[in-house]
Amino acid sequence: MPEADKGKEAKDFFTEVPQKTNGFFLKGSGSLDWGMQNRLARIFNPKSGRTVMLAVDHGYFQGPTTGLERIDLSIVPLLPHADALMLTRGILRTVIPSSFTKAIVLRASGGPSILKELSNERLAVDMEDATRLNVSALAVQVFIGGEYETQSIENMTQLVDLGNQYGIPVLAVTAVGKDMARDARYFRLACRMCAELGAHFVKSYYIPDGFDTVTSSCPVPIVMAGGKKLPELDALTMAYNAVDQGASGVDMGRNIFQSDAPIAMIKAVGKVVHDKMKPKQAYELYKDLKQKELGKKKGKK
Ligand code: R5P
Repeated sequence: MPEADKGKEAKDFFTEVPQKTNGFFLKGSGSLDWGMQNRLARIFNPKSGRTVMLAVDHGYFQGPTTGLERIDLSIVPLLPHADALMLTRGILRTVIPSSFTKAIVLRASGGPSILKELSNERLAVDMEDATRLNVSALAVQVFIGGEYETQSIENMTQLVDLGNQYGIPVLAVTAVGKDMARDARYFRLACRMCAELGAHFVKSYYIPDGFDTVTSSCPVPIVMAGGKKLPELDALTMAYNAVDQGASGVDMGRNIFQSDAPIAMIKAVGKVVHDKMKPKQAYELYKDLKQKELGKKKGKK
């Protein structure tokens, strides 16, 4: 009964304590709606403000890539060490345990294979299915300077409109054609265009000269793409430099799952991204963890 509560009233309403207005930790994301921010906070660790995304979506245009022939065997063991998993709905439904509760970034564009013009993509996922899969974001490829540049931009803007409607953030993945210069001028253009046209975060390759100008001129978070397999120390150095120059984390595939010791590598990448561990120290950690990982594998044989 309301009357019975009377004596407690003055105390429990804390009338002298103003309610806190919480800001949101992520660059350019302060005015997004609650659901959108909540999904982004599942991808980006609110403590470090950064993410380690594990990209395993390569099969959507190139089939069973080296290291991804059996995702159940090679990738599932890595899941506890990633903040987010980027993949297609086919692999999500068939291979990833539904008890996996971290963020899913769903590949939402596709069409051409490596045998055709890659920029000729279309949207490849319906929003209803994305919500059914409880994803934290949708990823779409954008081919600035590519043959189907406008079409790929339209894929992105349509997805952003749908994402805004459903509260699901969109990751624009900048795809660079083989004959294009991978330089700061290109990535400033591509990343800024994606952000201006509504992408909530952007994936860009790292470049040694001027990467900080790419991150600083992009008003939303940038995650660094991994690219082709490098020696582990080089990959850790690239991740460190990217984060040091303003990236909000990494979205790496082959440099993790094609490593001799993928669990050791993803743990070392995590230290670099979240704790800004120096590359040499992270490489020592990798080597140490690698011994243990390979030792365990031997023991199982
Ligand atoms: C990039 O265009 C696609 O999303 C890839 O399938 C994937 O994300 C690439 O990852 P990585 O280059 O690190 O292997």
